[in-house]
Amino acid sequence: MIIKKSPAEIEKMRTAGLVVARCLREIAEHIEPGKTTTLDIDVMAEELIRKYHAGSSFKNYRGYPNTVCVAVNEEVVHGIPGSRILLPGDIVGIDLGVIVDGWHGDAAITVAVGGVASDEAKRLMNVTKECLLKGIEQAKPGNRLSDIGYAIQKHAEKHGCSVVRDLVGHGIGKHLHEDPHVPNYGNPKTGIRLEEGMTLAIEPMVNIGSYEIETLGDGWTVVTRDRSLSAHFEHTVAIRRNGPDILTLVTTEEA
Ligand code: MF3
Ligand code: CO
Repeated sequence: MIIKKSPAEIEKMRTAGLVVARCLREIAEHIEPGKTTTLDIDVMAEELIRKYHAGSSFKNYRGYPNTVCVAVNEEVVHGIPGSRILLPGDIVGIDLGVIVDGWHGDAAITVAVGGVASDEAKRLMNVTKECLLKGIEQAKPGNRLSDIGYAIQKHAEKHGCSVVRDLVGHGIGKHLHEDPHVPNYGNPKTGIRLEEGMTLAIEPMVNIGSYEIETLGDGWTVVTRDRSLSAHFEHTVAIRRNGPDILTLVTTEEA
């Protein structure tokens, strides 16, 4: 069942979304190549969430042990923070969800540690970010759900990349995960019709190699099966009468 939100409820989600966006930006600015560990990122996230008087959406969700998911290089998503030191040239996905006043916001970015990365890693990150924006453009009343995934897949494959099939975006609101599933692939003009008030977390995961993934023995960390690089970007988006409204931006003007 898809739960649509009123404009007032969307503003509450924007409050959570703003916290997510600010935390992600501050975390990204504080990564020190050769020094920061993935667990340091988790600690930063916890401190920032506290500073903004919010709560973690992920901690203890289905037994997830941390506040952020940190995915390095061939890790796709759901990497558990630990002692790994981030090195120049690593690409690191940071996925964060927070809850404010009962409403969730969820977003992810992938950044190059030290601002350096191989040309192919930079290309992958750019393509994935563009995929997210192309998907978001389709999040408007009258379109169908699969128009989002179709736009994402088309852009990724045009650039020789592949989109992960086994993990998808999701509805979001009072629960971190609500209906519908939001695949990052598919044929256009199928699935439910998108309507004003729906709120979706759109989150393409794009690989340089094959789209196949596997989960490591820790039960969480998802990696590419061929160990090729993967990138992940996510925004929480509300469908408004006039089109998509991104809720996980640092400033409201950015929209
Ligand atoms: N953004 C991811 C998702 O929406 C992260 C959730 S992982 C968990 O699925 F930690 F919450 F389990
Ligand atoms: Co999500």
